[in-house]
Amino acid sequence: MAAQPSDSKLDALLREDRVFSPSPAFAASANAGDPGIYARAERDPDAFWEEQAAALRWMAPYMHVLEGEVPAVRWFAGGRLNVADNCVDRHCEGPRRNKAAILWVGETGETRTITYHQLRRDVARCANALKALGVGRGDRVAIYMGVVPEAAVAMLACTRIGAPHTVVFGGFSAEALRERMADAECKVLITQDGAHRRGRVVPLLDNAAQAVRGAPSVQKVLVLRRIGDPALRAALPPGMAVDWEEAVAGASPDCPCEPMDAEDMLYILYTSGTTGKPKGIVHTTAGYLVGVSATCRLTFDLKEEDVYWCTADVGWVTGHSYVVYGPLCNGATTVMYEGAPDYPARDRHWKIIDELGVSIYYTAPTAIRTFMRWGDEEPARADLRSLRVLGSVGEPINPEAWMWYHEHVGRGRCPIVDTWWQTETGMIMITPLPGLVPTKPGSATRPFPGVQAAVVDENGAPVGAGAGGNLVLTRPWPAMTRTIFRDDERFVRQYWSRYPGCYLTGDGARVDADGYFWLMGRVDDVLNVSGHRLSTYEIESALVDHPQVAEAAVIGRFDELKGQAVAAFVTLKEASDVSGAAAAPLRDELKAHVTKKIGPIARPEDVFFTVELPKTRSGKIMRRLLRDIAEGRALGDTTTLADPAVVQRLKEQYEEGD
Ligand code: WTA
Repeated sequence: MAAQPSDSKLDALLREDRVFSPSPAFAASANAGDPGIYARAERDPDAFWEEQAAALRWMAPYMHVLEGEVPAVRWFAGGRLNVADNCVDRHCEGPRRNKAAILWVGETGETRTITYHQLRRDVARCANALKALGVGRGDRVAIYMGVVPEAAVAMLACTRIGAPHTVVFGGFSAEALRERMADAECKVLITQDGAHRRGRVVPLLDNAAQAVRGAPSVQKVLVLRRIGDPALRAALPPGMAVDWEEAVAGASPDCPCEPMDAEDMLYILYTSGTTGKPKGIVHTTAGYLVGVSATCRLTFDLKEEDVYWCTADVGWVTGHSYVVYGPLCNGATTVMYEGAPDYPARDRHWKIIDELGVSIYYTAPTAIRTFMRWGDEEPARADLRSLRVLGSVGEPINPEAWMWYHEHVGRGRCPIVDTWWQTETGMIMITPLPGLVPTKPGSATRPFPGVQAAVVDENGAPVGAGAGGNLVLTRPWPAMTRTIFRDDERFVRQYWSRYPGCYLTGDGARVDADGYFWLMGRVDDVLNVSGHRLSTYEIESALVDHPQVAEAAVIGRFDELKGQAVAAFVTLKEASDVSGAAAAPLRDELKAHVTKKIGPIARPEDVFFTVELPKTRSGKIMRRLLRDIAEGRALGDTTTLADPAVVQRLKEQYEEGD
């Protein structure tokens, strides 16, 4: 896990009493000007969320801030509003009309500035095009695109007409896309011919063409031309392809915003859980928007003149909440960059910050560790004076990376907000507020105002200061997921049944004597590879799908750059010979098989062949012991194993390097 220091010189950094106080530069900021925010929210959380809800435009007022008992809660019940109206239209009625809403940078060098006025027209056109394809209120639309402005336009167009979207990360395979579209029963898919990534083209349309064949609900595919290579016009089934240019450009730029009920479904986003089947996390309209709008404004101390860049892909929840909905709801300028941080060179991010005058930069620890490896000179050469707030998200940030970020990117001046949250929480849950909360390298500090979290033991009792336990959320929050799409039972079982009345996060944490939270990674079988969430079981199923594989166990082993790397232990069917030279090609084949089934992000780093896997007497694979082996540690408790000799043999074999 990334939070572990690799070096003893880090001891000093890890000291919990190492505190960075807000700099004087923040003296006049909104947060610093509101020191009572925590106490106010604690005294009356509903009143606090009501105060946040007042920042939105409502079409009909809500009756109650919060109704019901967890998990069956309703936020802002009775209220009506529209997300596109809040994120786009209302800004066109005042001085923000000609402000840049989106600053886009293509990997191949082009840039685009889209003002709120232009965005309103684009979104309305796309909404009309979707209507012409038969999409109506409640119909699901899949979006499988790269980081192009049209991805945001498509999302907002869906919200404008009340059609929940399900965005599928462009790095997922055809099979993963198919599975998600089939589960959500999407009517239309929006995609692009290809996406630029590190100088190569990701064949999105090819994948889409394969995927729609197994997703019978999909009737039309709206295709944006990004690459423009006719060779990429993959064979969609006849009559399905609709050209974005023709359908959207020709549509009317006026389209009314549907008045949506506060609890209407806004979107589904699939995420990995502890089984092989991804979960369709459902977010609803009002609570989600109130939550992301407030957290985006307060966590980043967002100001009218900021240029805000969250580097996430729109395919992940961070892209939904903090590239699109959060910043746009606040009328901010949001930067979208299409490509890789090292294309064409390793200074690409620093150049973008300089050229666009980025003032808020929000990225993942895995990126920060990669930048560290590339050397101090890259950021040192760049002009980073525009920066004033730095953010981190996706995995625990190790103190060493925190310090590097602070010194080499923030130049010692910029507060760092380490934000802990999940697809399910919809919004940032644990984070410092810059200007108000002193920070400690490696700690996400304290819950956002109005949010309540605790670290509890097996029995649900809060553990003492410094002790580890399960992180739970003990009070409802507006952006909380309402269910797993069409699986209420799994939703309740997964999150709400372990500790009654509490939401189980699946993360381990501890709280120090100052009440600061230190996240310690997942305690379940969810992997976090480069900030991407993957399921152990999903990768295992992909491996077992290969004709030669009998059984597979997948674990995340510590990796300095990625946080975790996927390591697979595989047993083969009897006839397979993997001795000597036969092993390498099969290893590659299995890696490629996982890439094909799920996507390149799930590709195992290591594949290790074994004759047997360590199992308990009841037949459960003991992944904990495999992790010990892969990380070169002494084996933990082996007393529950059916045959302790299996794991001993495996360890020796592994250490010999197969
Ligand atoms: C991990 C991404 C430590 C955590 C927003 C969580 C973090 C999972 C942090 C959710 C952080 C996210 N510190 N761990 N600041 N942020 N995580 O759903 O394990 O893709 O449960 O949401 O990422 O991943 P997801």
